[in-house]
Amino acid sequence: MGLAQLASRALLRSTRYTSKPYILRTIVSTPDRHNSEASAAAAAPAEPDLPPRTPVGGARVHLSNPDDAIEVFVDGYPVKIPKGMTVLQACEVAGVDIPRFCYHNRLSIAGNCRMCLVEVEKSPKPVASCAMPALPGMKIKTDTPIAKKAREGVMEFLLMNHPLDCPICDQGGECDLQDQSMAFGADRGRFTETKRSVVDKNLGPLVKTVMTRCIQCTRCVRFATEVAGVQDLGMLGRGSGEEIGTYVEKLMTSELSGNVIDICPVGALTSKPFAFKARNWELKGTESIDVSDAVGSNIRIDSRGPEVMRILPRLNEDINEEWISDKTRFFYDGLKRQRLSDPMVRGADGQFKVVSWHDALAVVAEVIHQVKPEEIVGVAGKLSDAESMVALKDFLNKMGSNNIWCEGNGSNPNADLRAGYIMNTSINGLEKADVFLLVGTQPRVEAAMVNARIQKTVRATNAKVGYVGPPAEFNYDHQHLGTGPETLTELAEGRHPFSSILSTAKNPAIIVGAGIFDRKDKDAILSVIDAIAKKSNAVTPEWNGLNMLLLNAAQAAALDLGLVPESDKSIESAKFLYLMGADDTNLEKLPADAFVVYQGHHGDKSVYRANLILPATAFSEKEGTYANTEGCAQTTVPAVPTVGDSRDDWKIIRALSEVAGARLHYDTLGAIRTRIGTVAPNLLQVDERVAATYSTSSLRPETKQKMDKAPFETSVENFYMTDSISRASKIMAQCSALLRK
Ligand code: SF4
Ligand code: SF4
Ligand code: FES
Repeated sequence: MGLAQLASRALLRSTRYTSKPYILRTIVSTPDRHNSEASAAAAAPAEPDLPPRTPVGGARVHLSNPDDAIEVFVDGYPVKIPKGMTVLQACEVAGVDIPRFCYHNRLSIAGNCRMCLVEVEKSPKPVASCAMPALPGMKIKTDTPIAKKAREGVMEFLLMNHPLDCPICDQGGECDLQDQSMAFGADRGRFTETKRSVVDKNLGPLVKTVMTRCIQCTRCVRFATEVAGVQDLGMLGRGSGEEIGTYVEKLMTSELSGNVIDICPVGALTSKPFAFKARNWELKGTESIDVSDAVGSNIRIDSRGPEVMRILPRLNEDINEEWISDKTRFFYDGLKRQRLSDPMVRGADGQFKVVSWHDALAVVAEVIHQVKPEEIVGVAGKLSDAESMVALKDFLNKMGSNNIWCEGNGSNPNADLRAGYIMNTSINGLEKADVFLLVGTQPRVEAAMVNARIQKTVRATNAKVGYVGPPAEFNYDHQHLGTGPETLTELAEGRHPFSSILSTAKNPAIIVGAGIFDRKDKDAILSVIDAIAKKSNAVTPEWNGLNMLLLNAAQAAALDLGLVPESDKSIESAKFLYLMGADDTNLEKLPADAFVVYQGHHGDKSVYRANLILPATAFSEKEGTYANTEGCAQTTVPAVPTVGDSRDDWKIIRALSEVAGARLHYDTLGAIRTRIGTVAPNLLQVDERVAATYSTSSLRPETKQKMDKAPFETSVENFYMTDSISRASKIMAQCSALLRK
């Protein structure tokens, strides 16, 4: 493990919740805060003479190479740390909390708030620990009268212009300034001047600003530049005229903009949709995962009673680090709108009538028995979990049909080789790539967190990026190589200028967008990509740089479970169509007399064509297994109760199978997961990425297809509206109207 990784591990905070990176662990006791100087002098400690200890509560550091270690003394205790750590990090390892505002372990060091002052022996003045490298034998003192007085002074300055807003501030209860002023500040200030006020900025529909509360830590500016890859925010003015702004009046256009709410240590940047809705202590947090794309970002769903109040990121170094996309964070209001709450049957007048579950299932059972097995078709939607997909497949198989697939996988998916449809490099592994070739994919809108990794890698290592596809916006330097498959042929034959960059790369990463699944010449394209991979050594026993970037949460598990249609003309001959949350299936060629069952949670596109509706639970209301684009299985956890009379998808199909006389033999979640284990055991290894078996021809199916000259198309037209939940969200509608380009 490298030192940089050791250093970042050392700073992993004790919490998995990352709404605020700073969690107070040590409350410094100050016996007489009214007269800290006097009390400090009275309590002036003798130099501690203590035995070495194992720090309690400190960050864990694994020193694989003792030669890389140095010893420093924190408050008299010896601590071994890797070379290159800062004084603040050394204190973390020792289990001592140092207050900080501007420091964030994923951003560059600014050293501008001075809250992290400590005393270092032989240094005439307190030093900013976040910006000072720890040196061998350094004696760091964090709890001396000088250090305490320095922090109290800094806090007094910070509060000089800070408004007395706590009762009306959305940050109240989770505010670093509140916490740290209690622990490290004095109880009074000497400034009597009028406080300054700063005009609020309009950053868009997601981030609310109260700029008078800003303490100019510049975390938001550094986040925008370094993580989001946009130059939207900056520090304007100097001295008392200093303020954070957007230079010219404009909205913040990043798809990661909501993360500035988390990293802002005060209530200057808060969530606009959540403003004045609840206090954090009223909320119940549930650890779950996001299903709005195929990344599977780890989230915490904060709810109050039956309502989802907000969504926050949860730390997962391998997937989303501590960030989430704006869609993940803000599409939750879609869970409250357009919900299907009762079983319904369309009457002769074309209107839906509410019926009982028993009657609804009886109608479906009757109709399914009236059609031939080859006329039965099932489509799983983008948000389907593995349990419901295996149940639907088993049920339709029992009815004699194997015409079932998942949206996004196309009509002719290749599910034989797992390495052919997942991200083999892994999301985290992308950081080791030195050249990227993006084929028919725009990660910024298809998988914002994968894009953030590429951005991070390009920024850190100057990795080259080549892109083949329609003109698109990127937030890092890239070369647009061409728009269609003929560019791939040039690359495969070494005729393109980018070929030499690819062939000299040590770890090239080829990322192919799942949008090509819908092309008729998919196999021919994959074959050429395979040739490019071979030529550039993208697949070796040590490095697998051949990747598919999937578009939705259900895709990987669907292919793992073998949801592959028997024919690409299935829809045209269907007489019974079972849509399980499938709203993006083209039904134009569906025969007019086909009976359509829609099982899902939202009254979205497919409901208009449905003959019968079965209400199901959304991801926030059920336990379900999802595999992300890198093949890591994760589970959702119910955060709120179900809506109306809705039921979990797999339970509906299980009940239907009984009414239809084709009973499925699993009655519990455990039993259905055992069944999943017989088909795709990797889906049972939750929170663990199971790599696909190494193969030199991961993507290439045997094919006689000819490549079409048609250029690649954009797979995601509107980042903010990609599924039934985000399409029902008012916040996402506002974002589409204001931020979509
Ligand atoms: Fe109070 Fe913190 Fe809000 Fe300032 S930012 S008003 S200290 S809750
Ligand atoms: Fe720091 Fe928040 Fe001000 Fe940005 S808005 S500089 S994050 S206090
Ligand atoms: Fe060190 Fe701000 S945290 S100067």
